Amino acid sequence: MTATSSRLKHEIKDLSLAPFGRQRIEWAGREMPVLRQIRDRFAQEKPLAGIRLVACCHVTTETAHLAIALKAAGADALLIASNPLSTQDDVAASLVADHEIPVFAIKGEDNETYHRHLQIALDHRPNIIIDDGSDVVATLVQHRQHQIADLIGTTEETTTGIVRLRAMFKDGVLTFPAMNVNDADTKHFFDNRYGTGQSTLDGIIRATNLLLAGKTVVVAGYGWCGKGTALRARGMGANVIVTEVDSIRAIEAVMDGFRVLPMAEAASLGDLFITVTGNKHVIRAEHFQVMKDGAIVCNSGHFDIEIDLKALSGAATEVRQVRNFTQEYRLQNGRKSVVVLGEGRLINLAAAEGHPSAVMDMSFANQALACEYLVKNQGKLEPGLHSIPAEVDREIARLKLQAMGITIDTLTPEQLEYTNSWTSGTE
Ligand code: ADE
Repeated sequence: MTATSSRLKHEIKDLSLAPFGRQRIEWAGREMPVLRQIRDRFAQEKPLAGIRLVACCHVTTETAHLAIALKAAGADALLIASNPLSTQDDVAASLVADHEIPVFAIKGEDNETYHRHLQIALDHRPNIIIDDGSDVVATLVQHRQHQIADLIGTTEETTTGIVRLRAMFKDGVLTFPAMNVNDADTKHFFDNRYGTGQSTLDGIIRATNLLLAGKTVVVAGYGWCGKGTALRARGMGANVIVTEVDSIRAIEAVMDGFRVLPMAEAASLGDLFITVTGNKHVIRAEHFQVMKDGAIVCNSGHFDIEIDLKALSGAATEVRQVRNFTQEYRLQNGRKSVVVLGEGRLINLAAAEGHPSAVMDMSFANQALACEYLVKNQGKLEPGLHSIPAEVDREIARLKLQAMGITIDTLTPEQLEYTNSWTSGTE
C-alpha cells in the first residue's frame, strides 16, 4: 500500500507499522554511541541549518539514526531507498510518523518506482547529497545539470559508488566536491569487512537455514567485503574457495589460507556461491551449466548484475519460489536445479537487516561529519573526490574505543621525539 499525506509528503508501505519501527530504531541506538554523541552536538550547534539534503541509503534502523542526526543538525532532509529490496518498511513508517522526515521507499518497489523516487529526491533541490552507489549523483549529472549550481557537495558510502565517481571525474563531469566516505579507515576496515562478512552470512542463513560447516563456499572477489565474507564463512566451518581477477588480492587470499581458483573451475565444486566483486556477470551461463544440482548462488555486491540471471532464466524450464527470498531454477529438463537468493540483490539487506548497528555507527559518523565538513568548507573544495580528513577518522575511532571502554597507550615524549627524527638509526 502506498500512503500519502498532505502534511508530509511520503511514499511508504504502511504508516501503521511505525510503532514496530520505533522500537527497532531504539534497539539499534544502543550500539551507536558515536553517532549519538555527534547528534547531541549537532542539536546544539545546528551545523546544517537551512541545508536541503537528500540521503539515498538503505532504509534501515541504522540509517534512521543518521537521518535523525541530520535533522537535529538543522537539515531539511529527505530519504529515499538506495536499493529496491533493502527498505525496512517499519523504519520508513517511524521516520515519517515519529520524526517528520519525508521518506520515499517501499521494500520490493519496482524499477519504475525506484527511478521515480530518484526524481522526487532531485525535486527537493539538494545542497548536499548522501549517496550509496551513486545513482542520485549520476542522475543529477546526466539529467539535471542546471541543479549542480545548488550543490555544496556530495558524500559516497560504498566502493561501487566511488568507482563510478572516479569514472565521472575522468570524463570531466564531476564538477563538484564529493566526500569519499567509503575509503575512511573507520568505514571500510569495519563496515566492508566485518559488516559484510557477518550480514551476508546472516542473510543466507535466514533465507535458507543452511548449515555452513562442511560446505564448499565460493567467494568471488577478495576486496574488503570478500575478505570479511571469506573469513566468516571459514569461521563457520566452510571450505572456502576465492576467485579473483587481481593478482595482488589473489596472493593475499592464498596467504590468508584460502584456495584460489578461476570461476570456471570453482563452478563445479561449490555448494554456495557469494559474489562481492562490484563487477557484472561474474557467474554466467557456462558456470551454471557445470554447477552441482542444488547449488545456491547469491550476491552481496552493490548491484544485482554480478549473477547473469537473464542467462539462468533463459536456460531454465521452470522457476519456483521455494522459501522467502529463495527461488529454484530447474535446468536441463528438471535434471538439476540452481537456487538464487534475493533475486541476485544484496542478500544481507534483502533477507537480513544489513550490517549490524555497531559498524554502521562508525560509517554514519563519517557521513554526518562529512556533511558538516562540506558546509564548513563551502566554496573552498576543488571538484572531485576528497578523503575524510585523517583527524576526523581518528576521532571516530577514539570515540568508538571510548564507548567500548577500551583505553590504549600514548607515546612517551622520548618516543614522540624518535618518531619525528631521522638521525637515530643503527646504534
Ligand atoms: N549498508 C549495509 N548495511 C547497512 C545498514 N544496516 N544500514 C544502512 N546501510 C547499510
